[in-house]
Amino acid sequence: MARTTVTPAGGSAGAYVTGIDLAKTNDAEEIAAIRDALLAHQVVALPDQKLGLEDLECFTDALGGRDVTPFVKPIDGHPFVIRILKEPHEKLNFANAWHTDLSYLEAPPSFTVLYCLETPPAGGDTVWANQYMAFETLSPGLRDTLLGLSAVHSAGPAYGTGGYLDGVKDKMSTRIEPSPDAYREQTHPAVIAHPETGKPALYLNPVYTQRIAGWSKAESDGLLGHIFHHAVNENFTWRLKWAPGTLAIWDNRCTQHFALNDYHGHRREMVRTSVKGSKPKAAKA
Ligand code: SIN
Repeated sequence: MARTTVTPAGGSAGAYVTGIDLAKTNDAEEIAAIRDALLAHQVVALPDQKLGLEDLECFTDALGGRDVTPFVKPIDGHPFVIRILKEPHEKLNFANAWHTDLSYLEAPPSFTVLYCLETPPAGGDTVWANQYMAFETLSPGLRDTLLGLSAVHSAGPAYGTGGYLDGVKDKMSTRIEPSPDAYREQTHPAVIAHPETGKPALYLNPVYTQRIAGWSKAESDGLLGHIFHHAVNENFTWRLKWAPGTLAIWDNRCTQHFALNDYHGHRREMVRTSVKGSKPKAAKA
């Protein structure tokens, strides 16, 4: 077994993990090393992997179990794997807005796994923002206020029938499946206790968080506008330059992410799985 090395890649989040061949391993020590690196750095990238879809599924299982990704058509024969694809003639990419994956579910995924098959010659990076830092850097007064709040999440405006992606789905190779079910609402604490580290993390994102529970829209928009801006301050971020064969994993309980759309005229292809998570619990005041 090659020696596993974890090299921090950014000041606020991100690390490279080398010395693990994910096509060979479901070695418990190596999986534990990846999980530890994730808990310490929120996002990890493993370059130079050579994976088939079955390898990706097995690795997802080893991390905690595969889960579905609603409202995106999975790859035929692989109901837990979605393809994220932008062709050279397309102008829109997938995930070009800050968000936490599937926060509209009762038990959102703990981790997302994204494997790079093809990159543009330049661009197409992904950026993550550390949501522990986003919380820690608020004023004590606002932290106290947020610790007492919950927020309503829904995929409706993005994936609902008649929603944003329904209107543009024919212009995208990523296979969006709009549904009336996307309008379901789920309430989560505004600040969650990470189930493994116990640390408080902001859990509000501009794609899926619709409003603060029990507040008027005007009140809610005011507070959320401030939080959404603060939560992705450049000082909390790390940006990954992909190469074919890079696999990244991120922890949805303490990050938001954004896929840049700066590579028109070129192809970018990824495959993605979700790792089962649990119902978010409130951080203690
Ligand atoms: C995603 O949000 O799952 C996609 C990220 C990316 O394509 O970089």
